Formats: sequence, structure tokens, C-alpha cells
Amino acid sequence: MDAALEKRHVERAYEFYAPVYDLVFDWIFAPGRSAAISQLRLQPEDSVLEIGIGTGLNLPLYPATVRLTGIDLSSEMLDKAIERVQEMGMPNVTLKVMDATSMDFGDNEFDKAVATYTISAVPDPVGVLREMRRVVKPGGTLVILNHFRSERRLTGRFEDMVAPLCTRLGWKSNLKMAPLLKKVGLVPELVVKVNMFNGWRLIRCVNRK
Ligand SMILES: C[S@@+](CC[C@H](N)C(=O)[O-])C[C@H]1O[C@@H](n2cnc3c(N)ncnc32)[C@H](O)[C@@H]1O
Repeated sequence: MDAALEKRHVERAYEFYAPVYDLVFDWIFAPGRSAAISQLRLQPEDSVLEIGIGTGLNLPLYPATVRLTGIDLSSEMLDKAIERVQEMGMPNVTLKVMDATSMDFGDNEFDKAVATYTISAVPDPVGVLREMRRVVKPGGTLVILNHFRSERRLTGRFEDMVAPLCTRLGWKSNLKMAPLLKKVGLVPELVVKVNMFNGWRLIRCVNRK
């Protein structure tokens, strides 16, 4: 675990962000969201896990036929998602406060899992991705949308420089993609750059066990 970003920091940060999260982050991150959910290639009846679902900004993008479970560490963020589910009338959605590094789900319980803008906001990204792999069936799909450390020299250095500040704000600016995926045994079948300045990466992997 990265000692600099601890669970209590994340909980505190998202308790603070919850009331304003949608106002600040909805429009910036919207193109990546649509692309991520479309990369799940959802089939009717799929069971899908969304890790760190936050305020539920992705909820309108799911078809009503899929069984969606959303988890988040922050009850304040999840309360917003619960409101959204109620407003939209989505009986196919279950939401739970849960730490993604130790999930209460059995092995191979889901067809697919997705994490949008979450992997760099968790204290233990390796632990979360390992859990994601455990709960998704062999051959299932994992979709990750996230900002990773840039491969461009100057941008990467800048992201290293601002990392201590970003950590205090609740996320890592310089998480490296390739070593992370290697550590958890994931080989991406697709990596595309999305959003403003192509600053975020959308990754799709098959869960080979
Ligand atoms: C930047 S927000 C992204 C929210 C949402 N996925 C979105 O696309 O808007 C990161 C979310 O990850 C959640 N989170 C951080 N660590 C977590 C953990 N260990 N388990 C579950 N959720 C976590 C935070 O509470 C927060 O809601």
C-alpha cells in the first residue's frame, strides 16, 4: 500500500467532495464514461460490478436489463448514488458501502467489472485490481478508466512534482499503468486515450485465470 494515500484520507476527501462532485466532475469526465460503459459490451442479463461507483454518474449509461452492483468506500458519495437510483427508478441496481480491497463477494460472481476514475483514488490499487479479478468470472471483462502517469518526459515529471499535493486531495497523479497491470497479471486488449487533452486512458482486459 502507498502509505501516502490512506483509507481515512480517501474517506475524508470524498465526504468533502460528495455535495459538489457532480457539479465539478460531470462535464469534464463525461466522454470517457460513455466510452468505458460501451467497452463493457453489455449483454442483456449481464451481472456487472462497478467499483467506486461514487455518486453514480455512470448509472444513466447502463441498460435496464443488466444486474448492476455498485460499491463505494464513502457513504456520503454512495448516498448520492442511492438518490439517483431512486429518481431514475432502477430496480436492477444494488448499492453497498464496501472496501474494494476486501469485497464481500464470492469468486467468479460477476460477468464484468468496471472502475471509472477510481483506481488512482484508492489507497491500494494492486489490492483492488486483484479483488476485481477474483470476483469476475474467467473470460469476463474488466474495464478501467483512469488517469495514469504520462509517458511524456516533462508531463510525467510535472505529475511527480504535484503528487504530494494530489495525494492530500485524495488521488495519485503519477500512478504508472504498465507496472500496475503487470503486477496483477492483466494484459490489456485495448488501451485508448480519452477526454480532454487525451489525458485519461481507457483499458479493456479479459480476465484470464
Ligand atoms: C474520483 S471518484 C470516482 C467516482 C465514480 N467512479 C465516477 O466515475 O465518478 C473515486 C471513488 O472511489 C471511491 N473509493 C476510494 N477508495 C475505495 C475503496 N478502497 N473501495 C471502494 N471505493 C473506493 C471513493 O470513495 C470515490 O467515490
